[in-house]
Amino acid sequence: MVKIAIMGHGVVGSGVAEVLCSHADNIAKRAKEEIEIKYILDLRDFPDSPLCDRFIKDFSIIEADPEVRIVVETMGGLHPAYDFVKRCLLAGKSVVTSNKELVAAKGAELLAIAQKKNLNFLFEASVGGGIPIIRPMSQCLAANDVIEIAGILNGTTNFILTKMIHDSMDFSDALALAQKLGYAERNPAADIEGQDACRKICILASLAYGRHVYPDQVHTEGITGVTLADVEYADAWGGVIKLIGRVKRAQQEKLSMIVCPMLLSRESQLANVDDVFNGIMVRGDSTGDVVFYGKGAGKLPTASAVVADVIDCVKHFRARKYLFWEEGKEGYVGNYLDDSTSMLIRLRAENAALAAENTEAIFEGAQRLYRKQAPKEELAYIVPEMPEREIRKKLERLEKLGISVPSAIRVANDL
Ligand code: HSE
Repeated sequence: MVKIAIMGHGVVGSGVAEVLCSHADNIAKRAKEEIEIKYILDLRDFPDSPLCDRFIKDFSIIEADPEVRIVVETMGGLHPAYDFVKRCLLAGKSVVTSNKELVAAKGAELLAIAQKKNLNFLFEASVGGGIPIIRPMSQCLAANDVIEIAGILNGTTNFILTKMIHDSMDFSDALALAQKLGYAERNPAADIEGQDACRKICILASLAYGRHVYPDQVHTEGITGVTLADVEYADAWGGVIKLIGRVKRAQQEKLSMIVCPMLLSRESQLANVDDVFNGIMVRGDSTGDVVFYGKGAGKLPTASAVVADVIDCVKHFRARKYLFWEEGKEGYVGNYLDDSTSMLIRLRAENAALAAENTEAIFEGAQRLYRKQAPKEELAYIVPEMPEREIRKKLERLEKLGISVPSAIRVANDL
């Protein structure tokens, strides 16, 4: 019998308790040990829970109990999760977490402590919810040099964009629905502003390239600026707009990384990843493209990944799972403005005919796009690929000519 504690009884934590109870026999067969939840840490009371006798409010009870060998952290947020997880590891307990904010900010440090103490620190659920991605990347794809990773890594924003694309639904109604369904973060700004996707691509980049990438090193844009007009121009071009997190190896031991809405061709494998689903493409030098697809958020999909890690911990009490990356360093991620891209630009000008002439002169080879019922002041183009810094300079020239640029969305030509 292995005794565990769960810290946090929110959407994911309660899902973990539910899966451990409802699948107890199968889990015991797979782990070759019965798993018992000894404590559930939460500041709230759950008198109606079948596990109501396990609830505690004082973390030090878990820390001081030598019977507890594995601690599941599903509290979310950096504090107090970081302090508690570190103390659990220092107290000799393996830790399983679904907390991407924690892993993206403190992964290198916590992995180093786990290594020193010969314990496991596992976080399959931190990226892609129920999709297996951490374990396949660290094990099954380990023989590859990873050329690139690109993914739809946030279920909430993918749900919102899908509703905008297919149902012309208003942004705020779609967000409210995603929150009701339990997909969104406690603070949905982390979803819609792109930070959640950023944390996840940082974890994947750290794993793939062996050095920690911190979220503040990555240029991040969310979907709050994407409008139905942009969605219609994307459709006219033959594509869709998706929030993409992306990392590639660049020159001089650097990474090229970005999180932003991107225009994908309908033929892209990621273009048809809809609703709360996530899709992650890993481009290996030997495998070519490998695509992972599944539910990236929600109670039971995420709980499934957490419980799988708990089983793995039980099976590896004396044999550490090899997950490790070094501390990060300044300048490791290049400036996104140096990366080449093409863009969908939407413009507004009093005199649209003159604006078209100026735009086509400044952006030689730009392709004009049209949509039904566009206001007469509106224009849209796909501009040719060049370093983003050059595109920005040209857009400044347009602005000086009285042409405003309400949106500029990067095109992912190679996805
Ligand atoms: N808020 C996150 C999402 C939850 O929507 O993807 C899963 O990490």
